[in-house]
Amino acid sequence: MRQLAAITAVGGYVPEYVLTNAELETMVDTNDQWIRERTGIAERRILKGGRATSDMAVEAINDLLAKTPYTAEDIELVICATVSPDHVYPATANIISDKIGAKNAWSFDMNAACSGFLYALETGAKFVESGTHKRVLVVGADTMSIRVDYEDRNTCILFGDGAGAVLLEPNSEGFGVIDAAMKVDGSGSQFLLQKAGGSKYPTSLETVRNKEHFIYQDGRTVFKYAVKGMADITCELMERHGLTGEDVDYLVPHQANKRIIDATAKRAGLPDEKVMVNIQRYGNTTCATIPLCLWEWEEQLKRGDNLMLAAFGGGFAWGAIYLKWAYDGKKNS
Ligand code: ACO
Repeated sequence: MRQLAAITAVGGYVPEYVLTNAELETMVDTNDQWIRERTGIAERRILKGGRATSDMAVEAINDLLAKTPYTAEDIELVICATVSPDHVYPATANIISDKIGAKNAWSFDMNAACSGFLYALETGAKFVESGTHKRVLVVGADTMSIRVDYEDRNTCILFGDGAGAVLLEPNSEGFGVIDAAMKVDGSGSQFLLQKAGGSKYPTSLETVRNKEHFIYQDGRTVFKYAVKGMADITCELMERHGLTGEDVDYLVPHQANKRIIDATAKRAGLPDEKVMVNIQRYGNTTCATIPLCLWEWEEQLKRGDNLMLAAFGGGFAWGAIYLKWAYDGKKNS
C-alpha cells in the first residue's frame, strides 16, 4: 500500500481578547444583525500585548507536542502558512522553529492567502509520502487584526486572529492525505489584496495615508467566485473518488462566510451536522481556520473518518483535500 502522510496530532490557539459585534458597532456604521445574517460571525479573537503571529503559532505547536511522545527536536520540517508574517523576511517558520527549539528542522513559509493551510498541508504531505521526512509540522497562523482597517466596515467585521497546527507522520495502512485538487487564477488578484508594502508599491507615506497597507476586498465579486470555486472543487474531488455526501463524515471548510460554507455543503450533499463551523466565534482567521476546526472537533473524530477540507481565497487560490483521519478522539496530554 502507498505510504501516506497522516495527521497524528492537532494543536490550536486563539488569543483571549474577544471583539464582539457590539464593540464593532461603536467603531463603524454596522449592526449585530447585519453581521450575523450576512456572514454568520458573532465575535472574533484579537491578539494584543505586542505579540506576533509566531507567538500564536508557538502556542498551537506546544499544545500539539504535549499530545505526542515527541519533543521539538524530533521535528524535521516546519511549514508556516500565513499572510501576516512577523516580518517580510525572514520566514516566520524560522522564528517559530527557533522559539520552540526545533534544532533539527528546516522551515519555510507558504503564502496562498486563505488557502494557505491547504497548500502547506499538501506540500508537507509530499515530504512524508516520498519517505524523506518522518515528522512534519504544518501550522496556519494569522494576525489579521494588523491587516484590517477598523474604519472600513466592509472588511473589519470579517477577520480575527488565531493559529492551528497539525503533525504529519508516515502511515502505510491507508490513513492520511489521499488526494488534493488545487487551483489558481491570478487574474482575480485585483479583487482581494494588500496593495502596498511589496515591490510594486513599496511602503511610503503616501501608501500609508491611502491605507494601502490594509486589506482591500471587492466582497461581492469574491463572494461570487468563492461560492462557485469552493463547491466545484469539493464536488470534483468527491467525484474523483466516487464519494457521495453519505460517504463523507465531515466537511472542513475555510471559515470566510457562513453562506459560502452552506452553499458548499449543500452542493456536496452534506447535512449541517457533518460540517465544521466555528466562524461565529472566531471569524475569518485566514490560514488558521481549517486547523482550528480540526482542533475543536478532534474529540469527535474517529479513525477512518473521511474528511473533505476546502478553501477559497485571495489570489484567487482555492482547493480541496481528501483525507482519512488516523486516530480516535482526543489525545491525552
Ligand atoms: N454593516 C452594515 N452594512 C454593511 C456592512 C457592514 N459591516 N458592510 C457592507 N455593508 C453594506 C454595503 O455598503 C452595501 O450597501 P449598499 O447596498 O447601500 O451599497 C450592503 O451592505 C450590501 O453589501 P454587499 O457587499 O453586497 O454585502 P454582501 O452580502 O456581499 O456581504 C461580505 C459582504 C460579507 C464581505 C461578502 O461579500 C463576503 O463574504 N465576501 C467573500 C469573502 C471571502 O470569501 N473572502 C475570501 C477569503 S478572505 C482571504 O483570502 C484573505
